[in-house]
Amino acid sequence: MQVAVIGGGYVGLVQAAIVADLGHDVMCCEIDPEKLAALQQGKTPIYEQGLDEIVARNHAKKRLIFVSDLAEATRFGEVIFICVATPANEDGSPNMDAYWDAFGKILDIPADKPKIIVNKSTVAVGTAREAQRLADEKGSNYHVVSNPEFLRQGTAVSDAYNADRIIIGAKGYAEAAALLEIYRDLNRPTFICDTTSAELIKYASNCFLASKISFINFMAELCEAYGGDVKDVARGMGMDKRIGPSFLQAGIGYGGSCFGKDVDALVHAAQLKDVRPEALLAARSVNHHQPVRFVDRIERTLGGLEGKTIALWGLAFKPETDDIRDSKAIDIANELVRRGAVVHAHDPEAMKRAAAAAPGVCFFDAHLDAAVGAEALVLATEWNVYRNTDPEEIRQRLVRPVIFDGRNMFDPVEMRRGGWKYYGVGRAE
Ligand SMILES: NC(=O)c1ccc[n+]([C@@H]2O[C@H](COP(=O)([O-])OP(=O)(O)OC[C@H]3O[C@@H](n4cnc5c(N)ncnc54)[C@H](O)[C@@H]3O)[C@@H](O)[C@H]2O)c1
Repeated sequence: MQVAVIGGGYVGLVQAAIVADLGHDVMCCEIDPEKLAALQQGKTPIYEQGLDEIVARNHAKKRLIFVSDLAEATRFGEVIFICVATPANEDGSPNMDAYWDAFGKILDIPADKPKIIVNKSTVAVGTAREAQRLADEKGSNYHVVSNPEFLRQGTAVSDAYNADRIIIGAKGYAEAAALLEIYRDLNRPTFICDTTSAELIKYASNCFLASKISFINFMAELCEAYGGDVKDVARGMGMDKRIGPSFLQAGIGYGGSCFGKDVDALVHAAQLKDVRPEALLAARSVNHHQPVRFVDRIERTLGGLEGKTIALWGLAFKPETDDIRDSKAIDIANELVRRGAVVHAHDPEAMKRAAAAAPGVCFFDAHLDAAVGAEALVLATEWNVYRNTDPEEIRQRLVRPVIFDGRNMFDPVEMRRGGWKYYGVGRAE
């Protein structure tokens, strides 16, 4: 099948690469000239495990080509995936400008046979219905289908091949059929529903996971207050099949390009229809509070931050990605600087992007160098390179063996046995 992908960012590039790998011919349209130049050489402009190999392989086989002309991609595609960004507006609603711009340009290209436009971007609830109305009003041959994306950055490629489910929102089976064919060889459970339900499934899934994280962070605060260990609490809770163990890791809060914005978008969507969004407001408020609470604890423990050198490991919003969008690690870096600390930071992949977002921070190429002469180590992103570093190596470089483990990555008992002052999130001191 001939497939067009509009937008070659995190979602679009993964989608284009996987669909090409499944044997389809893919034309991916990207307007950013820098990204496009890299892509046209078969290189990936983002860091995502395993992706560069798939892009290079399919690019070499000419099954995956990159263009800047949306009209060319639209003419090429029997199925056209829209994968442009939908960041949050001031009022929390998703900014749909890039989507409607792309959609309008697609509609301007007449289709001589039925074609499918697929909303892969996370779009405002009701978008597919409105888009279909516009397409019908023009008397066009386009059918709009919703196929929300659930990939997690860092594991996007394996997520695509092992998806728990593929959600297809369509008017009927006929409209869904092209997507079923594209994904056939993935052999993953597929659920077909109406487009609005599909859009809501996307928001519901992310908001539920965000709420789970905020709930365990609330429990972490209680653990600190009463002297419990949130890891044990989470473990005990997670053994209940109705709850499950995932997304019960307490820490500095959820981040990334999706959770925060999707929570905001669903709050906004609820308010538009006079539905009370209290459950989500609570999740959001816990999350906003989390990095501040963490820095408060560092400041209290060290007796102030003014002039103190702090080593900060991790800037990406999670490991295995260079993405710093809504990264709580960046919030912590900036808050430490604002309170007078000298921050020596390291991240294996995200330092280039972090430079503009955390301008008061000094960056180090080697994580152990960032620790030299620091009064404490703050662990903000749980990269394996940090996990695999011998604590003794770190200890030798710090002024004092003090660690604030924002991801509960280290074992407090072992650290304390090794002479460390260890502070986790929600772990008894
Ligand atoms: N990143 C994730 O983990 C993730 C997961 C699930 C869903 N989503 C959703 O997927 C959508 C895309 O997210 P992303 O992270 O890939 O964003 P992104 O910013 O990384 O990528 C969007 C790309 O689209 C390009 N673009 C914009 N307008 C274009 C046009 N008219 N023609 C061609 N290219 C155009 C941009 O230059 C950019 O490269 C969003 O709605 C997001 O909420 C993201």
